[in-house]
Amino acid sequence: MTTGTLAEHLAKVDMFSGLDHATLDALVQRGTTMTFPPGRVVAEQDRDGSTFHLVLDGSAAVAVNGVERGTLSEGNYFGEMSLIDGAPRSATVVAGADGLKTFTVSQLSFSELLDEQPHVARQLCESLVERIRKIEAARAE
Ligand code: CMP
Repeated sequence: MTTGTLAEHLAKVDMFSGLDHATLDALVQRGTTMTFPPGRVVAEQDRDGSTFHLVLDGSAAVAVNGVERGTLSEGNYFGEMSLIDGAPRSATVVAGADGLKTFTVSQLSFSELLDEQPHVARQLCESLVERIRKIEAARAE
Protein backbone atom coordinates (compact mmCIF):
# COMPACT_ATOMS: atom_id res chain seq x y z
CA MET A 1 0.00 0.00 0.00
CA THR A 2 1.45 3.39 -0.95
CA THR A 3 1.76 6.25 1.52
CA GLY A 4 -1.11 8.08 -0.19
CA THR A 5 -3.41 5.04 -0.17
CA LEU A 6 -2.65 4.29 3.45
CA ALA A 7 -3.33 7.90 4.44
CA GLU A 8 -6.68 7.72 2.60
CA HIS A 9 -7.42 4.49 4.43
CA LEU A 10 -6.62 6.02 7.83
CA ALA A 11 -8.80 9.06 7.04
CA LYS A 12 -11.83 6.73 6.91
CA VAL A 13 -11.22 5.44 10.44
CA ASP A 14 -13.27 7.42 13.03
CA MET A 15 -10.29 8.05 15.27
CA PHE A 16 -8.23 9.64 12.51
CA SER A 17 -11.03 11.20 10.47
CA GLY A 18 -10.47 14.72 11.85
CA LEU A 19 -6.80 14.86 10.87
CA ASP A 20 -5.63 17.01 7.98
CA HIS A 21 -3.62 15.57 5.09
CA ALA A 22 -0.24 16.65 6.42
CA THR A 23 -0.87 15.03 9.82
CA LEU A 24 -2.13 11.83 8.20
CA ASP A 25 0.94 11.68 5.97
CA ALA A 26 3.19 12.26 8.99
CA LEU A 27 1.40 9.46 10.85
CA VAL A 28 1.92 7.09 7.93
CA GLN A 29 5.62 7.97 7.87
CA ARG A 30 5.94 7.20 11.58
CA GLY A 31 4.20 3.82 11.40
CA THR A 32 4.67 0.58 9.53
CA THR A 33 2.46 -2.21 8.20
CA MET A 34 2.78 -5.71 9.61
CA THR A 35 1.35 -9.00 8.36
CA PHE A 36 0.58 -11.95 10.65
CA PRO A 37 -0.27 -15.50 9.54
CA PRO A 38 -3.46 -17.21 10.81
CA GLY A 39 -3.19 -18.14 14.49
CA ARG A 40 -0.21 -15.90 15.25
CA VAL A 41 -0.37 -14.32 18.72
CA VAL A 42 0.02 -10.59 18.17
CA ALA A 43 -0.46 -9.50 21.78
CA GLU A 44 -0.34 -11.78 24.80
CA GLN A 45 -2.22 -11.09 28.02
CA ASP A 46 0.04 -10.16 30.97
CA ARG A 47 3.06 -9.73 28.69
CA ASP A 48 4.74 -6.41 27.99
CA GLY A 49 3.85 -4.64 24.78
CA SER A 50 3.35 -1.07 23.74
CA THR A 51 2.52 -1.06 20.04
CA PHE A 52 -0.76 0.27 18.69
CA HIS A 53 -2.33 -1.76 15.84
CA LEU A 54 -5.01 -0.63 13.40
CA VAL A 55 -6.52 -3.53 11.42
CA LEU A 56 -6.10 -2.94 7.69
CA ASP A 57 -7.12 -6.40 6.49
CA GLY A 58 -8.09 -9.80 7.88
CA SER A 59 -9.29 -10.27 11.43
CA ALA A 60 -8.18 -10.98 14.99
CA ALA A 61 -9.79 -12.64 17.98
CA VAL A 62 -9.59 -11.02 21.44
CA ALA A 63 -9.65 -13.16 24.58
CA VAL A 64 -9.40 -12.23 28.25
CA ASN A 65 -8.47 -15.01 30.68
CA GLY A 66 -9.17 -17.48 27.88
CA VAL A 67 -12.71 -16.15 27.30
CA GLU A 68 -13.46 -14.83 23.81
CA ARG A 69 -14.34 -11.14 23.86
CA GLY A 70 -14.95 -10.51 20.21
CA THR A 71 -13.46 -10.28 16.78
CA LEU A 72 -11.67 -7.28 15.32
CA SER A 73 -11.82 -6.46 11.63
CA GLU A 74 -10.87 -3.68 9.22
CA GLY A 75 -11.00 -0.28 10.92
CA ASN A 76 -10.86 -1.71 14.46
CA TYR A 77 -7.77 -1.28 16.58
CA PHE A 78 -6.08 -2.79 19.60
CA GLY A 79 -3.07 -2.29 21.83
CA GLU A 80 -4.03 1.19 22.98
CA MET A 81 -4.38 0.19 26.66
CA SER A 82 -0.77 -0.84 27.38
CA LEU A 83 0.35 2.08 25.31
CA ILE A 84 -1.60 4.50 27.50
CA ASP A 85 -0.71 3.21 30.97
CA GLY A 86 2.42 1.10 30.41
CA ALA A 87 0.83 -1.94 32.10
CA PRO A 88 1.04 -5.43 30.54
CA ARG A 89 -1.39 -6.43 27.80
CA SER A 90 -4.97 -6.76 29.11
CA ALA A 91 -5.98 -9.40 26.56
CA THR A 92 -4.58 -11.89 24.07
CA VAL A 93 -5.06 -11.00 20.41
CA VAL A 94 -4.66 -13.73 17.78
CA ALA A 95 -4.69 -13.37 13.98
CA GLY A 96 -7.83 -14.85 12.38
CA ALA A 97 -8.29 -17.58 9.77
CA ASP A 98 -7.28 -15.32 6.86
CA GLY A 99 -4.37 -13.76 8.71
CA LEU A 100 -4.07 -10.16 9.79
CA LYS A 101 -2.55 -7.01 8.38
CA THR A 102 -2.12 -4.01 10.66
CA PHE A 103 -0.78 -0.50 10.58
CA THR A 104 1.35 -0.21 13.71
CA VAL A 105 2.58 2.84 15.56
CA SER A 106 5.14 2.89 18.37
CA GLN A 107 4.30 4.11 21.86
CA LEU A 108 6.31 7.29 21.40
CA SER A 109 4.71 8.25 18.08
CA PHE A 110 1.20 7.46 19.25
CA SER A 111 1.67 9.36 22.54
CA GLU A 112 2.84 12.38 20.58
CA LEU A 113 -0.21 12.11 18.34
CA LEU A 114 -2.51 12.02 21.39
CA ASP A 115 -0.76 15.07 22.86
CA GLU A 116 -1.06 17.02 19.61
CA GLN A 117 -4.50 15.93 18.36
CA PRO A 118 -7.41 16.27 20.83
CA HIS A 119 -9.77 14.71 18.27
CA VAL A 120 -7.79 11.45 18.32
CA ALA A 121 -7.65 11.41 22.14
CA ARG A 122 -11.41 12.05 22.35
CA GLN A 123 -12.24 9.26 19.88
CA LEU A 124 -10.04 6.90 21.86
CA CYS A 125 -11.85 7.88 25.10
CA GLU A 126 -15.21 7.24 23.43
CA SER A 127 -14.20 3.73 22.38
CA LEU A 128 -12.87 2.93 25.85
CA VAL A 129 -16.10 4.20 27.45
CA GLU A 130 -18.14 2.12 24.98
CA ARG A 131 -16.13 -0.96 25.97
CA ILE A 132 -16.66 -0.28 29.70
CA ARG A 133 -20.41 0.18 29.17
CA LYS A 134 -20.64 -3.13 27.26
CA ILE A 135 -18.72 -4.96 30.00
CA GLU A 136 -20.95 -3.46 32.73
CA ALA A 137 -24.12 -4.30 30.77
CA ALA A 138 -22.95 -7.90 30.36
CA ARG A 139 -22.17 -8.13 34.10
CA ALA A 140 -25.68 -6.87 34.93
CA GLU A 141 -27.38 -9.59 32.86
P1 CMP B 1 -3.72 -3.85 25.30
O1 CMP B 1 -4.06 -4.14 26.72
O2 CMP B 1 -2.60 -2.95 25.03
O3 CMP B 1 -3.49 -5.23 24.51
C1 CMP B 1 -4.59 -6.11 24.34
C2 CMP B 1 -5.68 -5.33 23.64
O4 CMP B 1 -6.91 -6.01 23.46
C3 CMP B 1 -6.10 -4.13 24.52
O5 CMP B 1 -5.02 -3.23 24.60
C4 CMP B 1 -7.33 -3.67 23.82
O6 CMP B 1 -7.01 -2.97 22.63
C5 CMP B 1 -7.93 -5.03 23.43
N1 CMP B 1 -8.97 -5.42 24.41
C6 CMP B 1 -8.82 -5.61 25.73
N2 CMP B 1 -9.97 -5.98 26.31
C7 CMP B 1 -10.89 -6.02 25.32
C8 CMP B 1 -12.28 -6.34 25.28
N3 CMP B 1 -12.96 -6.70 26.37
N4 CMP B 1 -12.90 -6.26 24.07
C9 CMP B 1 -12.21 -5.92 22.96
N5 CMP B 1 -10.91 -5.60 22.94
C10 CMP B 1 -10.25 -5.65 24.11
